[in-house]
Amino acid sequence: MVQALSSYNIEARCRIVVLISGNGSNLQAIIDHCNDGEISAEVVAVISNVQSAFGLTRARLAGIEALCLNHQGFISRTAFDEALTTLVEDFRPDLVALAGFMRILSPAFVNQFAGRLMNIHPSLLPHYPGLDTHRRAIADGAREHGATVHFVTQDLDAGPVIIQGRVKVCENDSEHSLSTRVHEIEHRIYPQAVHWFASGRLRLEDDVAILDGEPLA
Ligand code: GAR
Repeated sequence: MVQALSSYNIEARCRIVVLISGNGSNLQAIIDHCNDGEISAEVVAVISNVQSAFGLTRARLAGIEALCLNHQGFISRTAFDEALTTLVEDFRPDLVALAGFMRILSPAFVNQFAGRLMNIHPSLLPHYPGLDTHRRAIADGAREHGATVHFVTQDLDAGPVIIQGRVKVCENDSEHSLSTRVHEIEHRIYPQAVHWFASGRLRLEDDVAILDGEPLA
């Protein structure tokens, strides 16, 4: 059943399922803020499509259920996304947070979790959707770069923006040095967005992100 927008009982703690494919440093930031009480929420499961993802270890160390659903075991994107939908829904999430989940999700998956699906992307969207964002920003001579947390809609890397974090691009920046600074900013803005959602201040309405009753645009 599709959950109505922002209909979860905020008296209860927001249940978060985090989807990852790799290191999981953003996952860690969210876990840490939940544990510190800065976010009134609980990460109830972490699911990776890659067995070796270090984020699964982070989850287990935090006492969170950690599962792998390997996309290579499915004959199509649709079949994988159907299985993923069932698995995620089993945890009754109020919020599904994509944190370095490197798969394009099918329209059916996005529809199923509409209004409760968030992503972090390593650029100042609408600049640099897709991959290799740091390399492309340096190659273009961009003076500013950063990260964006947004609600996920049918348009890839283009859903309504919730919050962005900016960093200056230095003349001698390498892809590595720039990505390190962007990660630092990600670890601040993703927990902030999750906190707003979990405290009932943030919702998606008619494809517009609303914070404290005002559209974020
Ligand atoms: C983050 O930089 C995130 O913005 C990016 O993957 C990295 C995951 O890092 N996401 C995307 O590129 C999605 N298009 P982490 O595993 O250390 O959180």
